[in-house]
Amino acid sequence: MRKRGKLYMGTISLLAIFGMIAGITVLWTRAEKGESEMKDSIRLGVSVYRWEDAFVTTLRTELEEQVKEYERQTGKKVILDIMDAKENQSIQNSQVDRFISLGCDALCINMVDRSAASNIVDKAMAADVPVVFFNREPVEEDMDRWDKLYYVGADAKESAVIQGTILADAYDENPGSLDLNGDGVVKYVLLEGESNHQDSLVRTEWSIQTLKDRQVPIEKVTGGIANWDRSQASAFMEQWLKQYPDEIELVISNNDEMALGAIEAMERSGVMKDIKVVGIDATPAALEAVEEGKLMGTVNQDIESYAGTIFDIARCLAYGDSVEETVELEGGKYYRSPQKAVTAKDF
Ligand code: GAL
Repeated sequence: MRKRGKLYMGTISLLAIFGMIAGITVLWTRAEKGESEMKDSIRLGVSVYRWEDAFVTTLRTELEEQVKEYERQTGKKVILDIMDAKENQSIQNSQVDRFISLGCDALCINMVDRSAASNIVDKAMAADVPVVFFNREPVEEDMDRWDKLYYVGADAKESAVIQGTILADAYDENPGSLDLNGDGVVKYVLLEGESNHQDSLVRTEWSIQTLKDRQVPIEKVTGGIANWDRSQASAFMEQWLKQYPDEIELVISNNDEMALGAIEAMERSGVMKDIKVVGIDATPAALEAVEEGKLMGTVNQDIESYAGTIFDIARCLAYGDSVEETVELEGGKYYRSPQKAVTAKDF
């Protein structure tokens, strides 16, 4: 009996060992292949801080296109739930709840208030749904809370140095192109983005610093915070043109939309057509303005790789594939898209 009992127990143990080996093999094979071979469809929840923002719209459109292309190529289904947070952080927080209840596999979040990501991080961690933040960078403290948090954006200092270099190169080639009245000083006005956005301060600082480093003699006439917005910038410029007639020679803008607003004000007033304007973003409208000679230059943030990386990371996370094997990341969680200058020479 005992022997038989022993034999029975032995058989059970053997079966258990085989079972474990089989289980481990399945898990190992899954990890090897990636879950991607298992799932036919994934669901991604995307929330943008403001639907009308021109640059974010360009990004969103590119993301949708890349998703469609991926579906065409792989035959898999990607459900994209895109929502507008209407510049309201509590609306965005509720959208995250909704995405989680819909069973989204990963979230792509363009924070309304970049300093308020902790609430979203809490929700995501509790539901084990990874997050790719983009364009509005959460503070490091929040980013470090979990290993399933990523950020995709463009380096603000790099954008600004490129913007400053466009101007310094033009000045070196022909000082009169910026110093319109030839008095030895380039007088500029400055249009800034939202005060709490990581890009605004850094872009302003490094555009000006680059001009100083390149010994372009500059003097600030005035400036204002126009929150990335075309009409706010246009209103500022209209007022400045009246307030400082014949003084402004250059408009340095933290982004293209505000640069285009300044151009619109100049066109309305019909004065000082030679005033140079520079932006950042290379939105379709800005590229058209560069081609037409209205905008002196802008900075291209490689929207294809910007949007493509948001999708690549989200897709890998959703399938359980390794992000690191697909995208090269700084510190394991940051991606900065490559940038370059765009001027009339490019057309
Ligand atoms: C900046 C961009 C702006 C605006 C802003 C929104 O990177 O240059 O045009 O879109 O992001 O967060």
